[in-house]
Amino acid sequence: MYDHLTVVTHPLVQHKLTLMRDKDTSTAGFRQLLREISQLLAYEITRELEMTTRRIETPLCTMDAPVLEGKKLVLVSILRAGNGLLDGVLELVPSARVGFVGLYRDETTLEPVQYYFKVPQDLKDRLVIVVDPMLATGNSSAAAVELLKKAGANDIRFMCLLAAPEGVARMKEAHPDVPIVTASIDERLNEQGYIVPGLGDAGDRMFGTR
Ligand code: URA
Repeated sequence: MYDHLTVVTHPLVQHKLTLMRDKDTSTAGFRQLLREISQLLAYEITRELEMTTRRIETPLCTMDAPVLEGKKLVLVSILRAGNGLLDGVLELVPSARVGFVGLYRDETTLEPVQYYFKVPQDLKDRLVIVVDPMLATGNSSAAAVELLKKAGANDIRFMCLLAAPEGVARMKEAHPDVPIVTASIDERLNEQGYIVPGLGDAGDRMFGTR
């Protein structure tokens, strides 16, 4: 598995996503749903984590039982909306290391500009999962992945809630080695760069800003 793109069509994910798209869903509800979906997406994106065995004693006998191989995951949140996915994944993988990438769009060049970059030092040979709910133009995602590669990461996956076809194409062009896991590929981007039908501004909806 791990073609370039995996759409998680599980009924629970799709049901929760519909609730999140609904403009009448409250901030608290949106945040809770995002946390829940993040764990279901994490289940998919971590499906092929390396395993080893550990000898343990059950109450009945000795067994060589499967456990995760020792290397710690690195989760990287693209600020600020990425934090909404981060919390749920961290609950599932509490020992993961965490990094943050902050980018803003230069109004003249429309290119992403880095304002914050803090990641664990030893990215090489660790699985790095980048989280951002909305893969829209793909420009900031592609830029974030580029920064992580420059910092030494060589096994990167990207997890998002919604993707636009434009964003998927941009990521595939820039980083064909980075698999994407998402809950939906929506129709398109509108003139303002919003995903349609989408769910609006993910950061505003999860933090109650506007
Ligand atoms: N970012 C968002 O929060 N929503 C979109 O629709 C596109 C980018």
